[in-house]
Amino acid sequence: MHDDTRVANQEHIMGTASQKDIVKMYAEYVSGPKANFFKDLGLAFVQGDRHGIYIKAQEGLRKNQPPLEMIDCRTSGGVFNLGHKHPAIIKALQDGIAAGLDIGDHHAISEQRALLAKKLAGLMPPGITKTMFCVGGGEAIDLAIKLARGITGRKKVISAVGAYHGVTGFGLAAGDAKFKEPFAWNLPDFVQVPFGDVDAMRKIIDEQSACVILETIPATAGILIAPRGYFQQVRELCDAKAVVMIADEVQTGLSRTGHLWGIHGGIYEDEKVIPDIMVLAKGMTAGYYPMATCSYKPFIEKVFEKDPFLHISTTGGAELGCYVCSKMLDIISTAEFQDHVKKVGKILGDGLKAFKDKYASIITDMRGRGLMWGVEFINEKYGLGYTLKMIENGIFADYCGNRENTIKLMPPLVVTEQEIGVILDRLGKALAALPLPK
Ligand SMILES: Cc1ncc(COP(=O)(O)O)c(C=O)c1O
Repeated sequence: MHDDTRVANQEHIMGTASQKDIVKMYAEYVSGPKANFFKDLGLAFVQGDRHGIYIKAQEGLRKNQPPLEMIDCRTSGGVFNLGHKHPAIIKALQDGIAAGLDIGDHHAISEQRALLAKKLAGLMPPGITKTMFCVGGGEAIDLAIKLARGITGRKKVISAVGAYHGVTGFGLAAGDAKFKEPFAWNLPDFVQVPFGDVDAMRKIIDEQSACVILETIPATAGILIAPRGYFQQVRELCDAKAVVMIADEVQTGLSRTGHLWGIHGGIYEDEKVIPDIMVLAKGMTAGYYPMATCSYKPFIEKVFEKDPFLHISTTGGAELGCYVCSKMLDIISTAEFQDHVKKVGKILGDGLKAFKDKYASIITDMRGRGLMWGVEFINEKYGLGYTLKMIENGIFADYCGNRENTIKLMPPLVVTEQEIGVILDRLGKALAALPLPK
């Protein structure tokens, strides 16, 4: 009954209809507003074949045009850290299935979850040794905030203005007004302070505060780099008031900065701050299996002493996903891999700096770490305008959702020096196509 091992041809799965018809079907059955958004911009392409750092549209944008082939500098915010179709990850998926792994029963003791949590404990900043598993980043953020409230018995949650922590309950409440106001989601006890402003944090943090939650490089807010000492001072403020410190490393973790974690050497090499809870998601299985984690110091486990089933996730920490995640960690956690990210990241950063100098009348700033860069323009029009020019020139990237004058560049971490050269060349061509202010 279950022995049909025939594999479908690619054309039976991708390209089943014309690009135009897929866009129409998407508008009718998935999202009309989203399809219209892309149509209005002239960008209604359907993602097709992808390989390494490249992602192809199924057809050209206009009649008789060849399919767009772009370098993926979005990587869905770090999902495709290893590019597309990484052979070791595909093999891990196939091996896991062949060995009989599936999601597993979430209530039962799991070998794969135990093995992965042990591996993570060895990689986390010292003292963070426990991990719970979730499906997506928002769920893991919700869990982190729940744990902070549970262990402190307090309600107040402090986050950064313009932050993005997902669209789930607590994650949404800790994020920017743009995403929560349409849903009347201004939960009480959630307050925001400007990122990087330690005085603002000092004024707001108190004995009613359960946690401070911060992205270590806020991405949606515009790839912001905290001033030196900021995270250490926030750590001290949290300690003084017995407040839980949560690091959202959903985009900055997993060697994106050239260091395993942004907060632990990735922003300033000599600043190694240890949060109480660290949240990971996106790149956990290199783009193949939904997986997120909430890792924490053991004192937090007290929350579950009376009832270990207080927080559960049926598909979070699927055994198959855990196995794949473990292979991903083996690849990204070596010193050699991180040195590579530092080296190519510097070439990209230097190239962007040269653009900033050359186009000083439209580029006001560039900032970032490793392979995570933001380029800020004089206004939002340039954020959108440059996005369109990048795509036309074969760079798949876009602007930051809560700071639309800033575009973000997050290529796969496996990008080569030569490929960085191609990226810079295409970015340069896209810049040259922009109108300059009179
Ligand atoms: C920094 C950060 N935290 C949390 C999330 C939420 O993750 P997910 O979309 O997997 O729920 C995101 C998603 O973009 C993110 O960028």
